[in-house]
Amino acid sequence: MQPTSLDVARLRDDFPTLRQTVYGRPLVYLDNAATTQKPQAVIDRLVRYYTEENANIHRGVHFLSQQGTEAYEAARTRVQRFVNAPHSHEIIFTRGTTESINLVAATWGRTHVGAGDEIVVTALEHHSNLVPWQLLCEEKGACLRVAPINDAGEVDVDAYAALLGEKTRIVAFPHVSNALGTVVPVAEMAALAHQVGAVVLVDGAQAAPHLAIDVQALGADFYAFSGHKVFGPTGIGVLYGRAELLEAMPPYQGGGDMIETVSYQRSTWNTLPHKFEAGTPNIAGVLGLDAALAYVEAIGYDVLAAHEHDLLAYATAQVAALDGVQFVGTAREKAGVLSFLLDGIHPYDAGTILDKLGIAVRTGHHCAQPLMERLGVPGTLRASFAFYNTYEDVDALVAGLRRVRTMLG
Ligand code: ALA
Repeated sequence: MQPTSLDVARLRDDFPTLRQTVYGRPLVYLDNAATTQKPQAVIDRLVRYYTEENANIHRGVHFLSQQGTEAYEAARTRVQRFVNAPHSHEIIFTRGTTESINLVAATWGRTHVGAGDEIVVTALEHHSNLVPWQLLCEEKGACLRVAPINDAGEVDVDAYAALLGEKTRIVAFPHVSNALGTVVPVAEMAALAHQVGAVVLVDGAQAAPHLAIDVQALGADFYAFSGHKVFGPTGIGVLYGRAELLEAMPPYQGGGDMIETVSYQRSTWNTLPHKFEAGTPNIAGVLGLDAALAYVEAIGYDVLAAHEHDLLAYATAQVAALDGVQFVGTAREKAGVLSFLLDGIHPYDAGTILDKLGIAVRTGHHCAQPLMERLGVPGTLRASFAFYNTYEDVDALVAGLRRVRTMLG
């Protein structure tokens, strides 16, 4: 029985990958924080593009090129609505969250961060929202400050506020932690950063599949997310940036489409958003992302989030009832992730046994090594949920963990 109005059984039918068996057992897919499965509508959109519509965009006078350009720009407008950005030219298509953050570090960062300046991140960061800032600090002689978390995995907002000052140029933090599922108080932290004149970048990779995004209400100057984590294709992502900031930033990469004029002496840049989209873009990826966002919007985040909330509460209670469980990340507000350890059992060994039972989870440091070090664990077992997961998936996980305990003691 599902306790919410979401018709999970019907929606699961839209996801061909979920119908398969692995090692002769029905797949129980609980690795959604790594990547989500794709609905048939997204797969069909990619096939339709390559079967009937393939052409380059922004260049051709011919029918297919013009049709493709319209579809690509309509997708940009959908993304604008999806994150509630004021303007569609504030939406830049990238390869994913990682590229979006690197773009900001390489352009805004290189022009606004100098020796002695400070960049503030949190102890929750995925490597993709840490390493680009380390590289920038190294290049510029700037200093990276890390806002601490408590043992539950929540940002210590008072300590974060105390780190902010006149040297702070940018703060960068996740909307939702990939390793722990903590929902970060973005609006509060952004307002504090703005009080000292800093710019705010939000890593929304793990938020997009679970929460409605409103960049204006959040106070995000930059917001990044990935298509593949929100039921779309890999290799496509989004950077939202406030127009005023994007206008003043130098280009990220040079090439076709990002220029206005080119001579052997110098070039001038195209207007937004094209200034940041050099070369032939991932057209199929953009159209697939468009289909994915249309799919999620048709379900509605209220319904989806209510189901996931109930599912996470059920999973937490069921796993807690097992012997020797240590939860890693017990924030009051969480989305989509249950990270834990079984006493005396290495996460990798548990994950390998679960795999043979058809249960896909992630084990390890989850691309957040400093966070694992802070929490004093080598890594965790992470079950991560999407709206298509069921109570039966949780029951299968719990039965699998009992089996792990029996086999490994
Ligand atoms: N960032 C992805 C994860 O957390 C890959 O698994």
